Amino acid sequence: MEKFLIKQSLNIKGNVYIEGAKNACLPILAATILSNGKTTIKRVPFLSDIDVMCSLLEDIGINIKKDTINKCIDIDTKNIFNKEICYELVKKIRASFLLAGPLLARFGKVVIQMPGGCAIGVRPIDLHLKGFKALGAEITQKHGVIEIQAKNGLVGTEIYLDFPSVGATENIIMASVLAKGETIISNCATEPEIVDLIEFLNKMGAKIDGAGTETIKIKGVDSLNSCSHTIIPDRIEAGTFLVLGAAAKGELNILDVDCEHLKAVTSKLREMNVYIEEKENSIKVFGKNILKNVDIKTMPYPGFPTDMQPQFMSLMAITKGAGIINETIFENRFMHIGELSLMGANIKVEGSSAIITGVDKITGAKVKATDLRAGASLIIAGVCAEGESEISDIYHIERGYYNIEEKLKNIGVNVIKIKTT
Ligand code: EPZ
Repeated sequence: MEKFLIKQSLNIKGNVYIEGAKNACLPILAATILSNGKTTIKRVPFLSDIDVMCSLLEDIGINIKKDTINKCIDIDTKNIFNKEICYELVKKIRASFLLAGPLLARFGKVVIQMPGGCAIGVRPIDLHLKGFKALGAEITQKHGVIEIQAKNGLVGTEIYLDFPSVGATENIIMASVLAKGETIISNCATEPEIVDLIEFLNKMGAKIDGAGTETIKIKGVDSLNSCSHTIIPDRIEAGTFLVLGAAAKGELNILDVDCEHLKAVTSKLREMNVYIEEKENSIKVFGKNILKNVDIKTMPYPGFPTDMQPQFMSLMAITKGAGIINETIFENRFMHIGELSLMGANIKVEGSSAIITGVDKITGAKVKATDLRAGASLIIAGVCAEGESEISDIYHIERGYYNIEEKLKNIGVNVIKIKTT
């Protein structure tokens, strides 16, 4: 196993270049199943989740050429075929279920292992299945495997999502693009990663309107062709480094970002009295001011992102005053609290809310990353804590943060990765 050893590193300074968004790249890779030709995807974050998604595509005959130097992938689907999706790969990432929509659209049948839950919640797929059924698919489940079949093809229809689920919106869009007639999805998610997926699909010849709104209209087409697409910047990686800069009293330039995607994050940081300066596609964070605590409620986009909740908790733990974080998206996304408490944070949980009372200092400890963003919050805490922190299970962190050790070192963080037996 690998660990990070982090020593207190205040007054960090420098530039951070942001990668392409993991959560845009994953559905876009799945969407290449729909294309008949060759596709090039640029600004790919070569993370472990992306590698697993590529292996899932190769498992059904898709040809993948990775160029890790130029961060792009060439994809050719000419030899694609359908089969039960590889169990070992499916279990590695929940996003594997995003293959269901495109496979159903292209072949009329999907056989795939149910995606399990994960640390932050049960992660049901009922809304995905509701959409597939509405489009005319029949679904059977046994022994943990789900079979989705549309013997007479998929027919466009109206679908209302009880909750604006990101994954369900993405899967239903991909299932609808080759359906007969028009599909209207209401109360759908509006995240930038969905807008990027829609832009990619429309480049391939799909006819999708309403990107970024709560109502998306898809007119079915006969086939989709090749295209070239550059992934949007990763707003959560960018937000994570903004919070790090604020917490460590640093001065960071976060480069290659889309400021519009970070409005909820930058406005919350300004509310805490963090100095934020936005330019065309970069954001400067200056953490030297005296900060004050605030209240946060996680919401679907454009509300405050749940994927930034753990990171803000670390900042709030060392900020004067008290603040409340209400986590409304996932039912179990507070596991970082136990770890932060080992470092001296004063945080109480009441239902879906955490009450954070800022302390003058936290101290380094041996802590464990329980999930991707919880791990990021422990890095922020470790950089600010007096002494040294040891973070284990860092594979969680490296799923979502490309080259994070090097990026941290480049801005003055005292971090080393160690291998343990
Ligand atoms: C995506 O997960 C992201 N993952 C998550 O990022 C992110 O936290 C989440 O959206 C919310 O923004 C990827 O894009 C790969 P949801 P997803 O469906 O699609 C409930 C990270 O850290 N729900 O919007 O799984 C569900 O239980 C990860 O990068 C149903 O009830 O999220 C949850 O409470 C973590 N039924 C809520 O909706 C369904 O059929 C949000 O889930 C589907 C979801």
